[in-house]
Amino acid sequence: MCGISAYIGFREAYPIVINGLKRLEYRGYDSTGIMIFDGEEMQLSKTKGKVSDLELITDNDEVRKKGNIGMGHTRWATHGVPNDVNSHPHFSQSGDLVIVHNGIIENYDTIKKELINRGYIFKSDTDTEVLVSLIEEVKKRENCKLGQAVQLALNTVIGAYAITVFDRTKPDEIVVARLGSPIAIGVGEDNKEFFIASDASPFIEYTKNAIYLEDEEMAIIKIGKKVKVHKIHDDSKVDPIIQKLQMNLEQIEKGGYDHFMLKEIHEQPKAITDTFRGRLLADKNMIKMSSIDDNLDRFLNANRIIIIACGTSWHAGLVAEYLIEDMARIPVEVEYASEFRYRNPIITDKDIVIAISQSGETADTLAAIKLAKSKGAFVYGVCNVVGSSIARETHSGAYTHAGPEIGVASTKAFTTQITVLTLIALKLGKANNSLTDDAFNNYLHKMQLIPKQVQELLKIDEHVKSIAAVYKDATNCLYLGRGFNFPVALEGALKLKEISYIHAEGYPAAEMKHGPIALIDENMPTFVIATKKGHYEKVVSNIQEIKARSGKIIAIVTKGDTQVREIADHVIEIPETEEALTPLLTTIPFQLLSYHIAVMLGKNVDQPRNLAKSVTVE
Ligand code: G6P
Repeated sequence: MCGISAYIGFREAYPIVINGLKRLEYRGYDSTGIMIFDGEEMQLSKTKGKVSDLELITDNDEVRKKGNIGMGHTRWATHGVPNDVNSHPHFSQSGDLVIVHNGIIENYDTIKKELINRGYIFKSDTDTEVLVSLIEEVKKRENCKLGQAVQLALNTVIGAYAITVFDRTKPDEIVVARLGSPIAIGVGEDNKEFFIASDASPFIEYTKNAIYLEDEEMAIIKIGKKVKVHKIHDDSKVDPIIQKLQMNLEQIEKGGYDHFMLKEIHEQPKAITDTFRGRLLADKNMIKMSSIDDNLDRFLNANRIIIIACGTSWHAGLVAEYLIEDMARIPVEVEYASEFRYRNPIITDKDIVIAISQSGETADTLAAIKLAKSKGAFVYGVCNVVGSSIARETHSGAYTHAGPEIGVASTKAFTTQITVLTLIALKLGKANNSLTDDAFNNYLHKMQLIPKQVQELLKIDEHVKSIAAVYKDATNCLYLGRGFNFPVALEGALKLKEISYIHAEGYPAAEMKHGPIALIDENMPTFVIATKKGHYEKVVSNIQEIKARSGKIIAIVTKGDTQVREIADHVIEIPETEEALTPLLTTIPFQLLSYHIAVMLGKNVDQPRNLAKSVTVE
């Protein structure tokens, strides 16, 4: 949700900032801008559109590219439509200060009116321009340094932010601050250069040393000096912890694939294996997860588990509900974090909350965690991004180890979340004897086969592509599944909507007759999961009901199935496994299907319109 990339040091800032923005474009891509300080003036270029559009207008401009200080922004609009004027960076009234901002200033209107009364004129509709002028006003009024002015100004704003501010009259420093939106500072050798970004990907090839600001912290970054960090609200100093980054360049590049989404779909066998690593010990009939072992009594004595998440992660949570209740017999509820946080939920210290988030930065999930903690619940996180806000805010948790996911439509994050949650369900089921030793051991052995089975399944790509060609022009699609695969149907429909803009609905197969069946005709394809065990016969009846109304059926079936093959228009086979583990397989064809449809329709697969990878505003 908006990406910030900035540099101060001895190198040319332009390529660093631009490349950084490209890597952060998953966070927002409706408009973008860059400021390069050429030693005297701040050269500003902004445009509606993508970083590639910005490059077109700046690439041949040698003057704009000179300079060792720069900041850029890629935007996901909150205040003001995406256009050139509303794009960041924004200058203050005098033109001395410049800012890039990720977040929302909720009381911007009141502040704006006050500033207008003092003679300020605003060019854009953004809350960000208000903030930078407020900083300028405070600086003038208090006759103070930039850092102090930023601090005083932030103490009067309500909202969420990650900001980077520069003053051209004091060109050896940059001030950054964070409340609710992430910001990382890459520290160069001997403090000769610094990189500021929404995540570490823009500076990975320059330094592995990073400081992640915590909420309510700000940093004064000066060339040649150690980064100074202090609290925004009470001025107390903080000793910044320099973390060693594990990420490498290869992980954030496309590696020969046309799109990140396709690369990430194909990375799933490895990603799931990485999620298993050190945890799934099938030969010892053991699952090792110290975060569960250390809190086992708590889990086993919990009144219930409440799972909170958004988007695809919420779908993984729904799968976990089926898994944990089935395997461990512990009551589970799954909630949208955005509803949970505002509906005054009943939570006690006997409840366990599991928060699931790929990015670890989703604002609603983070707020829901804080609420659950304030009511005494133990909060366990399942995150992908190491060191993210949610990973830090939760009492304990497990990383999915999927590696960076850049395509906005989540793929490997989903399957690795399900992998971790399956391991947890199995571990709890074994610990409270809900699962027999035989059942537990059988699951472990079947789990171990999953990465190979996913690898095998990915070979159906051409077959799925041919099905995509048949249905790419549909305007409505239905996705059906039951039991463990009901959430997979929801996720399948979400994938199609997100990247192809075709309306799709996911439904529990049996619920279809209570509404969606009214939509069925020869133009409405239904994608249905009809794997062998589970509720096979029931789903076959649902398929018959659709066929009786001339609907088209594309069915995901277990290898060797003949019954569905006879009635469906197309079938896609998945390898045999336990029903509880099928979501890890049935998901794959749906991912490929939406991918191919979106490509055939000429949509921007990795950066679908209006969406952002990480939603750090409410
Ligand atoms: C956004 C993304 C989705 C994601 C959701 C939750 O909407 O586009 O792909 O599922 O946020 O994100 P999280 O990082 O918390 O899993």
